[in-house]
Amino acid sequence: LPNGLALTPPMGWNSWNKFGCNVTEQKVESVADYLVSSGLAAAGYTYVDIDDCWMAGSRDSGGRLVPDPVKFPDGISGTAAYVHAKGLKLGIYESAGTKTCAGYPGSLGHEQTDANSFASWGVDLLKYDNCNDDGTSAQQRDTTMRDALANNSSGRAILFSLCEWGVDNVWTWGAGVGNMWRTTGDINDSYGSLLSIFHANVKLAQYAGPGGWNDPDMLEVGNGGMSFTEDRSEFSLWAEMAAPLITGNDLPNSTAATASILGNRDVVAVDQDALGKQGVQISSTGGLDVLAKPLANGDVSVALFNENSAAATMSTTASAVGMPASSNGYSLDNLWSHVKTTTSGAISATVPGHGTVLFRVSTGSATSTGTTHTLVGASSG
Ligand code: GLA
Repeated sequence: LPNGLALTPPMGWNSWNKFGCNVTEQKVESVADYLVSSGLAAAGYTYVDIDDCWMAGSRDSGGRLVPDPVKFPDGISGTAAYVHAKGLKLGIYESAGTKTCAGYPGSLGHEQTDANSFASWGVDLLKYDNCNDDGTSAQQRDTTMRDALANNSSGRAILFSLCEWGVDNVWTWGAGVGNMWRTTGDINDSYGSLLSIFHANVKLAQYAGPGGWNDPDMLEVGNGGMSFTEDRSEFSLWAEMAAPLITGNDLPNSTAATASILGNRDVVAVDQDALGKQGVQISSTGGLDVLAKPLANGDVSVALFNENSAAATMSTTASAVGMPASSNGYSLDNLWSHVKTTTSGAISATVPGHGTVLFRVSTGSATSTGTTHTLVGASSG
């Protein structure tokens, strides 16, 4: 959506994956505190997003949405003021239906009233769901809200995040309506979910770019259902696919291992690269996926993802991932182990089961021909 927002994939946190309906002002504010104190805000995590269940059960006499006074004693405006004072942005949730997915008042037929409320409260992002529709198309309902946001009475810029679960091939129309669009059903905290979403989202690279991104859903990193290796694969693959990096864990209580994943600035830089290209699958054979993402400075980020449970040696070449010929060879920066090596062209690594090795490949001086890396266990990013 050409509204000047999301020129790189949005980054932040959302309450849903960990807390579901137990979202509160206190939790949101403690996430804002942690983003700043941990350095994650400086690394680019900007949006603190309230998902479903923030509302009271009905609208007020003027037809306006009302925040739950127990969960949000200072309202959304007070919460927004707190988040803004930390230099961060506030996101909120609604649905293009008569009710949200959890049964709270929906925005269908109230789009301009609600857009005006959000803007007056200081909301910076709207995640717009697709539950309880009236039979009209998601594109039509989302477009109505797009226009309401654009015409909000405060003139506030609001990032528009579509949550229509990939219906009606949203990727074919999403860029004209929203800044990001969900490409699949809901993620859950399992390797199987990661895998099926990856397979769907990785095919859609051509539709992503500055201002409009494929959204394979919020991260489950740190929620405990996946191993450290699997969590790191999720983060690597989301970065390689230029996905929004919206964390979904109990962020202020992140373990050191989780913090090392979310805080890896080299991986974040792949996601946030200014060229805005989603990585593409160069090859996928027997559950061994090679992805390449061209970067603004001419480097290429290469992900070697081993879907299988047994470790495997995976190989590609500089030319196969789109690097130009280089008489000086190439340097490979392993973005998780931080080991730097050189190669005349072979790119190879031993990748543990369910693991991903992520290299930044640049032209450089070769002193050896081909290198093999082993993914380091729980070393910090
Ligand atoms: C849908 C969305 C989720 C979440 C819930 C809230 O399932 O896809 O991301 O927002 O609704 O009810």
